[in-house]
Amino acid sequence: PLVSTSDIVIPAADEGIGCGAFNAVALEHVSAIIAGAEAVRTPVILQVSHNAVRHHGALGPIGAALVAAARAARVPVAVHLDHAESAELVREAVALGFSSVMFDASVLDYADNVLATRAVVEHCRAHRVWVEAELGEVGGKDGAHAPWVRTDPEEAEAFVTETGVDCLAVAVGTSHAMDTRDARLDLGLIAALRARAGVPLVLHGSSGVADDHLIEAVRHGMTKINIATRLNQVFTEGVRERLAERPAEVDPRKYLGAGRERLTAEVSRLLSLLSTR
Ligand code: G3H
Ligand code: ZN
Repeated sequence: PLVSTSDIVIPAADEGIGCGAFNAVALEHVSAIIAGAEAVRTPVILQVSHNAVRHHGALGPIGAALVAAARAARVPVAVHLDHAESAELVREAVALGFSSVMFDASVLDYADNVLATRAVVEHCRAHRVWVEAELGEVGGKDGAHAPWVRTDPEEAEAFVTETGVDCLAVAVGTSHAMDTRDARLDLGLIAALRARAGVPLVLHGSSGVADDHLIEAVRHGMTKINIATRLNQVFTEGVRERLAERPAEVDPRKYLGAGRERLTAEVSRLLSLLSTR
């Protein structure tokens, strides 16, 4: 069933485990992410980014598909809009029945980030939609890796109080779109942020983090773990291998199916890993 994001994130934060938030690009991702979660009977957050919406040309069709797939799932599924850069897109997601949104005004300076985020929180709260925001820009969204950026715990506390956000994305050493898993996280900072922020923390760019380090991040207080690039890697490997084996194949159901199988297995694996205490 479709659930609210708080139903997944709050119990996970209380228990000290992580919850997987996986980005869908195509419908094959949607079915794979849900099948992977069902296989290990674990709740999951299914998300679509503003960038993926740009790829599709609109939120409507892909967003409605996410919501429908979540409703039909045999495990709790929250549907989340990731890295929304416009309040207009947030409103569309709310109207479609999304569980939560991430409003990303992290490029703005502190005061403008607070103002823009607070307005989004007011709208979403009225519709019981959860809001995530980002403080301290996690690099890599535009190809520029900036693994040295850090969120200040005191500023995080003030930001949460001033905006009313329900969870907070922080910069602790990751970068988006890494294709190697060697990011070094600042575990002490994660613990300090967890103590000060007062809301669950979100790790972006988690594809660049090795399994054992992900577990440490969760142990130190990370809860929502966003993973996109890693899924695209395994999906594409599956497609590439299939087409290399059968170069004459033209039916997308066959080669996309091969990618989907890999993706399902990786989602199950990651969800089991994240629920390790
Ligand atoms: O918002 C999405 C995540 O931060 C994914 O980052 O592609 O590096 O795993 P990633
Ligand atoms: Zn992100």
